[in-house]
Amino acid sequence: MVNRRKFIHASAFGSLGILFSKMAAGNQVPFTIKGKPVVISTWDAGLEANKAAWEILHKGGRAVDAVEKGVMVTEASQNCCVGLGANPDRDGFVTLDACIMDEFSNCGSVAFLERIKHPVAVARRVMEKTPHVMLVGSGAQQFAVAEGFALEEQKLSTQAQAAYEEWLKNSEYKPPVINIENKNGHGPFAPLKLSNGEWNHDTIGMVAMDAQGNMGGSCTTSGAGFKMRGRIGDSPIIGAGLFVDNEVGACTATGQGEDVIRVAGSHSVVELMRQGLSPEAACKKIIERIVKIKKSKAKDIQVAFLALNKKGQAGAFALHPGFRYAIKNGDKEILVTSKSWFNE
Ligand code: GLY
Repeated sequence: MVNRRKFIHASAFGSLGILFSKMAAGNQVPFTIKGKPVVISTWDAGLEANKAAWEILHKGGRAVDAVEKGVMVTEASQNCCVGLGANPDRDGFVTLDACIMDEFSNCGSVAFLERIKHPVAVARRVMEKTPHVMLVGSGAQQFAVAEGFALEEQKLSTQAQAAYEEWLKNSEYKPPVINIENKNGHGPFAPLKLSNGEWNHDTIGMVAMDAQGNMGGSCTTSGAGFKMRGRIGDSPIIGAGLFVDNEVGACTATGQGEDVIRVAGSHSVVELMRQGLSPEAACKKIIERIVKIKKSKAKDIQVAFLALNKKGQAGAFALHPGFRYAIKNGDKEILVTSKSWFNE
């Protein structure tokens, strides 16, 4: 895990979209995306994931290839609430959800997938090798194995094992604990505290624009920790956890999946960008829609959207403070703290 403080060094260096964001250190710092290519992704783990995406983008590769390879870094990490080391469901099984979408509106998705290390890569195969968009459960696993993916042994990370054992003491499926760093707990979206004191979160969503100006996106998660067996969140659902429209832009979501699905979150953000809203303004409007629906219960959940438009402007908005996202553009890597509906 990279220390985020190393990356708080935003500087203006170009002509495309100006991004005014509240930095992790708490300052309002102008950051200008230099132009294509650019990749953005959710949470601190996005810094490492963006580096892998950049390997493809800076050589002129496709955005869809970059976003697949990027989030695979996070899926492979045993230090994250994504991938096979993550929080299990209430019965002790890690079940994974992922999706991917390209510049032609091709999309693929897997959900409730067990014992496969890279669900996003299976989603890509669904997109390219089947007439379908989504495969789930044993069918998705059967397809993965037929495609040559290894069936792994489940091995929870030390943190996930400890969190699960703690949860088992009461085995209560409580309302979700807010997925922000000052809310430690053992609820479905409690972030994992790493040995170096940093936090990791439930989902990585990534969107990118390549050197040709084409967009792609991916999203992958283990979902809510200690969820009911069979529960699927927003992350593998095209239009909820991820949406890409190559004419307009792309959006991904993180947080309480049920409430992202209710508003077709990522699709709704992209449609607002189509109407001319900036990425941040579009994300904010959909967060406001969730607040309107949830009323007083909005205080109990975290949801965040992260979007990139065709002009190369990035923006985000969260329900609660604490959501961070990573940007890689040119030789700059930066971690940005999103604005939020609730204040600190
Ligand atoms: N956003 C992840 C989930 O709800 O599963």
